[in-house]
Amino acid sequence: MPVALITGVSGQDGSYLSDLLLAKGYEVHGIVRRTSLLSRARLENLRSGPAGERLTLHYGDLDEPLGLVRLLEQIQPDEVYNLAAQSHVQISFELPEFTGSVTGLGVIRLLEALRLTKPDAKFYQASSSEMFGSAPPPQHEGTPFHPRSPYGVAKVYGFWATVNYREGYDMFTTNGILFNHESPRRAENFVTRKITKAVAAIAAGKQTELRLGNLDAKRDWGFAGDYVELMWKMLQHHTPDDFVIATGEAHTVREFCEIAFAHAGLDWEKHVVVDPKFFRPAEVDYLLGDASKAERELGWKPATTFHQLVTMMVDADRAEIEG
Ligand code: NAP
Ligand code: GDD
Repeated sequence: MPVALITGVSGQDGSYLSDLLLAKGYEVHGIVRRTSLLSRARLENLRSGPAGERLTLHYGDLDEPLGLVRLLEQIQPDEVYNLAAQSHVQISFELPEFTGSVTGLGVIRLLEALRLTKPDAKFYQASSSEMFGSAPPPQHEGTPFHPRSPYGVAKVYGFWATVNYREGYDMFTTNGILFNHESPRRAENFVTRKITKAVAAIAAGKQTELRLGNLDAKRDWGFAGDYVELMWKMLQHHTPDDFVIATGEAHTVREFCEIAFAHAGLDWEKHVVVDPKFFRPAEVDYLLGDASKAERELGWKPATTFHQLVTMMVDADRAEIEG
């Protein structure tokens, strides 16, 4: 039975990746942080399901290098997926050093722990389209980085650390440069879920207004459930490499609002209020990925359309609020 270790297992992607690896017969180990309220809601169904006995959670933190060494020595994973991060771009302006430590240095802590304990394990780093920042679209593997936030800067560090361990130590280390991906499991302070939760609340008569920031930003939004398949495929590839994963289609925040509200029979313009509080010190205006390398070499194409993604998220939030 192959053994995988996932950091950030309690997050959106960690939960979808756990689903996938358990379905493929893996023994899955996940690292969770100590929090005052347990943040394992996304894993509850899996843990109580038939494959739940193959999922083990361990306390750990990317800020605790010796703990990582101890865990890797104990688990001896075949594959390591580093999904843990302070992943919110706007919050990274409030917590720049913390974000640099977890999202940037955390990568090298994990890589170094792996080099010392299980150097033949395959390693996936959750790199991000935020590294491209203000580079003109479409962005691909050869596009120079120009990050626009402490988060983006930290991800560039993690990207190059991953390349460096591949080149320096001949380790099987890879970067998935993923464009935005969402789902009903998305945290509520990212714009898509913030919108779909508000649509559900407004449709249920529990809210009237939704305050948002920049409506003109364009993002290449895909479905998280599709994207985790690529993480796994990258580690099954014959050589370690870096891949852009995207849909090749970009939409504005305004378009997301239009579709989400219309799906619930609402007019977005009657409810959305622009609030400068949500503007960022430096914005990423336009992300649009060119994933032709992944399509060519990994045989991958996203299954879910933008419209399906938006309506799936609205439906899930409406079902939740309406019981
Ligand atoms: P997410 O929902 O915010 O999950 C982040 C995970 O990291 C959570 O499990 C969190 O634990 C954990 N974590 C945070 N700080 C940690 C620390 N110091 N030590 C150990 N674990 C820690 O993010 P996501 O959307 O699933 O994204 C997964 C990864 O892909 C992240 O690295 C993100 O930056 C990257 N990424 C995401 C996207 C996207 O559009 N979703 C695109 C490109 C790249 P708690 O539950 O305790 O907070
Ligand atoms: N969060 C948020 N809240 N964003 C808003 C709001 C709001 O009220 N109003 C407008 N926006 C705009 C942001 O300014 C940004 O341009 C866009 O909506 C998307 O914001 P987020 O959903 O917060 O995502 P992100 O693109 O900054 O970052 C996500 O994608 C990255 C990949 O490109 C995160 O998942 C990162 O972890 C990921 O790396």
